[in-house]
Amino acid sequence: MTHMNMPGLGKDLIGLEGVPGETIQAILDTAEPFKEISERKIKKVPVLRGKTIVNLFFEPSTRTRISFEFAEKRLGADTVNISSSGSSVTKGETLVDTARNLEAMRIDMVVIRHGSSGAAQFLADRIPSNVINGGDGQHEHPTQALLDMLTLRDRLGRVEGLKVCIVGDIVHSRVARSNIFGLRAMGAEVAVCGPRSLIPLGIEDLGVTVFPHIEDAIEWADALNVLRLQLERMNAGFIPSLREYNRVFGVSRARLERAPRETVILHPGPMNRGVEIDSDVADGPQSVILRQVTNGVAVRMAVLYLLAGGRPELAEDAKRGQP
Ligand code: CP
Repeated sequence: MTHMNMPGLGKDLIGLEGVPGETIQAILDTAEPFKEISERKIKKVPVLRGKTIVNLFFEPSTRTRISFEFAEKRLGADTVNISSSGSSVTKGETLVDTARNLEAMRIDMVVIRHGSSGAAQFLADRIPSNVINGGDGQHEHPTQALLDMLTLRDRLGRVEGLKVCIVGDIVHSRVARSNIFGLRAMGAEVAVCGPRSLIPLGIEDLGVTVFPHIEDAIEWADALNVLRLQLERMNAGFIPSLREYNRVFGVSRARLERAPRETVILHPGPMNRGVEIDSDVADGPQSVILRQVTNGVAVRMAVLYLLAGGRPELAEDAKRGQP
């Protein structure tokens, strides 16, 4: 099933691989009117009134979980949050059994975060509710890449033609994969930079340039999307030490000062200050890190609205509370 006039968007949003640029553009355009709802005194419209949404988070999350919950509540949906530690998963219940029990209570949508790549698709194939991937293993995190692109568009006026370098732990990163697919579909040039041990073999086949040196990446890029070292997903031996990583690949003020232009700095969070990014960069004028978080709510509102059958051209009316 494909959303009306939005190729690549079906019942679910599992990833950005294969989603055409025109569909991504339509999602970002739909997010624009929704931004204003979060600035109101009463942050609520009845767009999803009567819908029930379950946020199923099997891995820790601050931004994605809270951002989805705000988006759902601001669109008037009823929401339930479930984490693995507080559910019967700890007693051995499978993902599908958990979801089928939720379906039996008549839900409409599930947002899932899971440590296993493929978990979101697995669920989507087995339940009729809309499924949105809130990050699955090392596979994809589509709403993160969408909010990154919305933030780039806000700051630089466009995504097409931009040079964006993703820096750090690419091999373990679902954020990197979703950004590569999304940015390429939107006509941006994409590069990655990091230690060879953290760059997947054959990544060039995705149309991506590899910079072994951060100085060259900074000279090339309009924007750096700086990633956390995912120590929880690493066995030993990927990097000599965090100190050494910071010395060779850390994004520092001194390095940015040598750039030929004002490089925009993104980070999906959570940050390890003093490792992949220095505090004066994270908190400095080139950083759009908190803007990313703000935009996350609007992008998630847009995705929820569209999967519920909303039309991009009617988002302005929906924002005003009109059906
Ligand atoms: N960016 C992101 O996914 O952050 P959380 O893990 O806090 O959700």
